[in-house]
Amino acid sequence: MRGAGDLGVVFSRSVIDSCELRSLYSQSESFMSSSSCPSWPIEAIRQQFPGLSRQQDGRPVAIFDGPAGSQVPESVVQAISSYLRYCNCNRGAVFATAKESDRILTEAHRIVGDFLGTEDADCVIFGPNMTSLTLQLSRALGRTWKPGDEIVVTRLDHDANVSPWVLAARDAGVIVRHVDLHPEDWTLNLEDYRQKLSERTRLVAVGMASNATGTINPVKQMIAMAHEVSAFTFVDAVHYAPHGRLNVNDLNCDFLACSAYKFFGPHEGILYGRRSLLESIRPYKLRPSPDVLPGLWMTGTQSHEAIAGTAAAVEYIASLADLLPATSEPADTSRSGKLDRVFAELQKYEQQLSVQMLVGLQTVPGIRIHGIQDRARLSERVATFSWTFPDCTPREAATLLAEQGVYVWCGNHYALPFTETAGLEPGGTIRAGALHYNTPEEIQRLVTALRKMRGADC
Ligand SMILES: Cc1ncc(COP(=O)(O)O)c(C=O)c1O
Repeated sequence: MRGAGDLGVVFSRSVIDSCELRSLYSQSESFMSSSSCPSWPIEAIRQQFPGLSRQQDGRPVAIFDGPAGSQVPESVVQAISSYLRYCNCNRGAVFATAKESDRILTEAHRIVGDFLGTEDADCVIFGPNMTSLTLQLSRALGRTWKPGDEIVVTRLDHDANVSPWVLAARDAGVIVRHVDLHPEDWTLNLEDYRQKLSERTRLVAVGMASNATGTINPVKQMIAMAHEVSAFTFVDAVHYAPHGRLNVNDLNCDFLACSAYKFFGPHEGILYGRRSLLESIRPYKLRPSPDVLPGLWMTGTQSHEAIAGTAAAVEYIASLADLLPATSEPADTSRSGKLDRVFAELQKYEQQLSVQMLVGLQTVPGIRIHGIQDRARLSERVATFSWTFPDCTPREAATLLAEQGVYVWCGNHYALPFTETAGLEPGGTIRAGALHYNTPEEIQRLVTALRKMRGADC
């Protein structure tokens, strides 16, 4: 039998007979069921997520809206409710509940620091969401710019990593350069990026992975290029965070933001900044709030319960290491070591889901997939797929799927720079994203539902 590794070669042909597609898809299904990551503890994982047991019309729903917000394990729910139940308190008081609360919140900076790859817990800033934190930083950073300066944003980014910078640039009289995309697969055009960098560039803002197409951008390379012209770098890691290990030191970025509700936590934003920058750039703040990190950048009273839940989400991911088979080498049992190991295995599992999703979607009549489709390049994408049909709006298609218990998203996903560039407005795309808790059977359900919807003889 042909392995899934060969399937990309076959699918790169533009016209493929539908019988052949069907047979290839069934081969990809048997590939998934026979050899797919036997070491990935999928059952033990799914049992921890109450949301995954939801039923509709007597059968479980298949949830593919992780790119809009992931499901949450019971341990995160517990951490949030236990914070509210037992030590709900404001910061800095002298009594027991306040001390307990302060301990949990201080520890959360360290735990999330491990998630981001920094030992400097003070450089981990919490806030309401990535958008608000980015707007806050953009206002502070924008005050250091002068007319004639330039910044670089991309056409593949979520608007939360474009508009805050464009607004700050407008206020400071700064020129905004937009990195173009390769129209054949909507990846960033690095040559265009190179040409848009200059000694006038003050900031490069780029996403680590696109929430619309699933493309992983070469951010490490882009950061190095930005630093050659002494520009600061801001990385939007919101979409990438549930799919791969973050490491701000290895990336050498100046700032990075993500959101816990995309990586199995509650609605909470996270900003990392280099200490020297967080200390030297002055945020807008109230007089009585702290003048030192991390409080310097954390305006107003925070959602303490969400911070506790965010730390629990990181602990949940690290705990998956205990479910993996023992290795021949002694395992690194630190939280960071566990996160390294979990993400290495998680990526292998998700890549197999990607293969199955890609191969399956390509068998759906009339489908137009937007993004990388080459099987040999799956390491350049996460398992988030966007597509359209010529004669059915994304909303209509998503509604039909929802009626069958298959939950996908439709619209522009706030990745407006992309949907505008790709000519996908006003409807946007249909988007399905698989996370580490999704299964080959769920993907099969999605593909079968789509094939039926499109009149394929399933
Ligand atoms: C890639 C990306 N960046 C930024 C955001 C905005 O994050 P938040 O909802 O925390 O403001 C999102 C939200 O969907 C996203 O997917």
